Amino acid sequence: MTTLFDSIKVGRLTCPNRIWMAPLTRGRGTRDHVPTELMATYYSQRASAGLIISEATGISLEGSGWPYAGGLWTQEHVDHWRVVTHSVHRAGGRMFAQLWHMGRIVHPSLHGVQPVSASATTAPGKAHTYDGKQPYVEARPLDIEEIPRLIGDYVNAARNAINAGFDGVQLHAANGYLIDQFLRDGSNKRSDAYGGPIENRTRLLREVVQALADTVGKERTAVRLSPNGDSQGVDDSNQAALFPAAAAALDSLGIAFLELREPGPDGTFGKTDRPPVAPLIRRAFKGPLVLNSDYDLARGQAALATGAADAITFGRKFLANPDLPYRFAHNLPLNPDDQKTWYSQGAEGYVTYPEARSLPEETVT
Ligand SMILES: Cc1cc2nc3c(=O)[nH]c(=O)nc-3n(C[C@H](O)[C@H](O)[C@H](O)COP(=O)(O)O)c2cc1C
Repeated sequence: MTTLFDSIKVGRLTCPNRIWMAPLTRGRGTRDHVPTELMATYYSQRASAGLIISEATGISLEGSGWPYAGGLWTQEHVDHWRVVTHSVHRAGGRMFAQLWHMGRIVHPSLHGVQPVSASATTAPGKAHTYDGKQPYVEARPLDIEEIPRLIGDYVNAARNAINAGFDGVQLHAANGYLIDQFLRDGSNKRSDAYGGPIENRTRLLREVVQALADTVGKERTAVRLSPNGDSQGVDDSNQAALFPAAAAALDSLGIAFLELREPGPDGTFGKTDRPPVAPLIRRAFKGPLVLNSDYDLARGQAALATGAADAITFGRKFLANPDLPYRFAHNLPLNPDDQKTWYSQGAEGYVTYPEARSLPEETVT
């Protein structure tokens, strides 16, 4: 029976376990989205993950709307990410870069750029900005003529990721950001080749993934989706039809793995009564399937044992427990995460969570 402690092949990479680190935005870069030394420390502390998926990382100024998040569109970004990936590799780890265009979630106060999306829509709620929380503004629909330029931005970021030493890239197609805004009919009102039927709404996803695979290799290309329920106001009238179709398309492109964030009705990072689409996607997608949201050791082991998943990503548990695989292996208690420091700057609540393996024996038993 497969367990979380078994190795798994992802493309040409062998991951020593199936306890992976979920992408986590932490806001420890500079205002120009340049990675810092602190980020190298943070990620290398977590190198015992089977695979680290980086925080969402902007592909362009247009797509970046999170204060102090990382970017991957300039040489300076590449040079500083290289420090991070080298320290992860030196510590024995592996790391994919999550490629991010936020679409309508970008706030113009960050870089003076009006947000773009599939259609002229406005996200509900308020954006994190350098001047506190501010209401979102209406997005400008991307002109069909701009799509090649947009795909070019993804390609540039993917090439930069490999030059910076990442082992691969994960397209962020989840959580109500740009690709998700094109996928779902609640935010995609287009009448051209990128809107309307499912075949058209999955077109941008397919074209971007094909371009990434052509650039870095399909064995180094992964995707994250969040099929069930609403994400930041982005929703679909028929998730059970849309997402298996998207997964089947990704299957035929031969990507390295597909990760799904699917909270349940009692979810603690988003919740929904809508059933997970993962069982349908499992049939449509033959490659490694990675599940996420509110997993612990027991649920993770059960998902692998029943064949529902091939690996699990842990978000908040990895955030607060740099040595999570060690703690799971020894059934040790976990540090709780401190929400106040999720996105705060500085070392506190970032690189300060204690490791059980460095604590005196009596503290861990
Ligand atoms: C602080 C924080 C930052 C996050 N940033 C990202 C992100 O950059 N990209 C992404 O796809 N999901 C992001 N998420 C969602 C997580 O990857 C994950 O789906 C969520 O935490 C649920 O998993 P968990 O129950 O294991 O924590 C973030 C979640 C948290 C708590």
